[in-house]
Amino acid sequence: MRRLDAGRPVSEADLQTIIEAALKAATGSNSQTTRWIVVTDSGLRNRLGAVYQQCWVQAAEFLASPEYALDDRIFRSASHLGEHMGEAPVIVVPCAPGPPGVASASVFPGVQNLMLAARALGLGTTLTTLYAMRESEVKEILDIPEDHSTYAMIPIGYPLGRWAEAVRKPTAELVFHDRWGSVFGSQNSDT
Ligand SMILES: Cc1cc2nc3c(=O)[nH]c(=O)nc-3n(C[C@H](O)[C@H](O)[C@H](O)COP(=O)(O)O)c2cc1C
Repeated sequence: MRRLDAGRPVSEADLQTIIEAALKAATGSNSQTTRWIVVTDSGLRNRLGAVYQQCWVQAAEFLASPEYALDDRIFRSASHLGEHMGEAPVIVVPCAPGPPGVASASVFPGVQNLMLAARALGLGTTLTTLYAMRESEVKEILDIPEDHSTYAMIPIGYPLGRWAEAVRKPTAELVFHDRWGSVFGSQNSDT
């Protein structure tokens, strides 16, 4: 959900619920090394939004090219977020120790929990990573220590766009039964 209502704040109670859901997710060895920065200060959000906008402008050049073939609907929606990230009532930035990417498997289960908890409360989110083109600026804005990396920039707010069921490829194209290439699902008579 990339179109968010800038004028409708998210309650402290809802934020607590969403963050608690994120913290309940599994982490490798229960290490719980992820640190979640919940940004509500408008000055900081504006600065994050300005960084994200610069990244979007850079990314839009290749995303708009015919060889990339990005769905037009997604492009327009991503473009909206590119211009309005800083207006999201809340922006969450999860961080973890070490170089970028090393803790992904321990960070993203929490990110998914956060997004699902938000959705259950009627709040929209988007997992974004484009900001990483200028990650050092984000780290500076949020005082993130040198030895930590960021994993996402997640705007949260009430939706202005329409909720719709996610469009995904058919199961038969993506899932195999027992071995690579064999059909999974009702077409398989052995199940
Ligand atoms: C790892 C990852 C990075 C993403 N980064 C961005 C991003 O920087 N900006 C953005 O607008 N959407 C981003 N997305 C959202 C995807 O573009 C989106 O999930 C996809 O277009 C499908 O849209 P849907 O889930 O609404 O169907 C990202 C998603 C993932 C999983």
